[in-house]
Amino acid sequence: MRILSGIQPSGTLHIGNYFGMMRPAIALQAEGETFYFIAEYHALTSLRDPKALRENSLRVALDFLACGLNPDRGALFRQSDVPRVAELAWILSTVAPMGLLERAHSYKDKLARGLSPTVGLFSYPVLMAADILIYDSDIVPVGKDQKQHIEITRDLAVKINETYGDVFKLPEPRISAETQVVPGIDGQKMSKSYNNNIDIFGDEKETRKRIMGIVTDSTPVEAPKDPSRSTIVQLYSLFASKVEIAEMCERFQKGGTGYGDFKKQLFEKLWEFFVPMRKRREEIMRDESYIDEVLTSGAKRANEVANQVMKRVRDAVGL
Ligand code: AMP
Ligand code: TRP
Repeated sequence: MRILSGIQPSGTLHIGNYFGMMRPAIALQAEGETFYFIAEYHALTSLRDPKALRENSLRVALDFLACGLNPDRGALFRQSDVPRVAELAWILSTVAPMGLLERAHSYKDKLARGLSPTVGLFSYPVLMAADILIYDSDIVPVGKDQKQHIEITRDLAVKINETYGDVFKLPEPRISAETQVVPGIDGQKMSKSYNNNIDIFGDEKETRKRIMGIVTDSTPVEAPKDPSRSTIVQLYSLFASKVEIAEMCERFQKGGTGYGDFKKQLFEKLWEFFVPMRKRREEIMRDESYIDEVLTSGAKRANEVANQVMKRVRDAVGL
C-alpha cells in the first residue's frame, strides 16, 4: 500500500498541522510505503519570497523529522525535485471541467481572504491531483479542509480513465476522526493565515502568550462554565488523557476556577507533550548534512515511481 501526503512550506507548522496531518501520517508509516513531500509549487501561489520559501522548506523537513517521521520507512522529498508532476498537472488540466474547480471551497476561501485570483490558485487542485496520481497513491492522510481536493482528484482520475482506458488508481482520503479540525486561539480553524495558530516549535514565551490569549466568554471565576463549547477544553483534549479531560470538564462545571488557570494547565500539558520532539529537533540540527541526505534520497525514490507512472500516462494519451 502506498500512502502519500503533502504540506505547504508557507510558514511555521502549527498544532493543527500536527494533529490533522503529521501525526496520522507518521502513524501510517506502519501500514505501507509513505511518500511525504514539501509542496513548494503550491506555496508559490501565496508566498513570493525566494529566501523564505527555501528556508521554510528545510524547516518543514526538519520539523517533520523531529516529530517522528522515519525516513527509512518512506520518502521525504521536495515537490520541485519531481518536476514531472507539473507535466501531469497540465495533462489533467486538459480534462478538468472549469465548473468542478469553480466549486472548490478552498479557492473561494482564499479569494475571500484577499488573495488575487491567479490561474495558479485556481488550478491548485489540479496540481494536487497530479501529486497524488503520479505515485499511484492508495491513501492520502489530510485534515478535513483537504477532503474536497481528494474528491476532485478522484473525479479527474475517472475522467482520464474514461477517456484513455485504465491509467490511474483511485486514491482514498484518510481523515482522522478526532482531529478533523483543530481550532485556533479565536475558536476558528487554526491557520497561519488567520494568525490564530499555536506553533509546534514556537518559543516558550510566545507559546504561553498565545495560549493565554485564547478567546473566552466573560463568565466570572465563581460561576460554572460550559466545557462543551470551550476552545481550551478542545485543545487540552488533544494532549491530555481521558481522566485528565474528565477532571477539567468537572472543574469547568463546578465553578470557582477562572479561565486563566485552565489556560495555564493547557500550556503545561502542551509544552510537556512536545519535549521529546524538541530534543530530537536539536539533535537533527547538529548534523548539517542530514536533512539534505534525506531529501536527496527521498527525491530519488519519488522519481523512480513518478517516471514509471508518467511513462504509462504518456503512452496512454499519445505523447
Ligand atoms: P497546509 O498548511 O495548508 O499545507 O496544511 C497541511 C496539512 O495540515 C493539511 O493536511 C491540512 O488539512 C492540515 N491542517 C491544517 N490546518 C488544520 C487544522 N486547523 N485542523 C486540522 N488539520 C489541519
Ligand atoms: N493542499 C495541501 C494543503 O494545503 C497540500 C498538498 C499539496 C497536498 N499536494 C498534496 C496534500 C497532495 C495531500 C496530497 O494542505
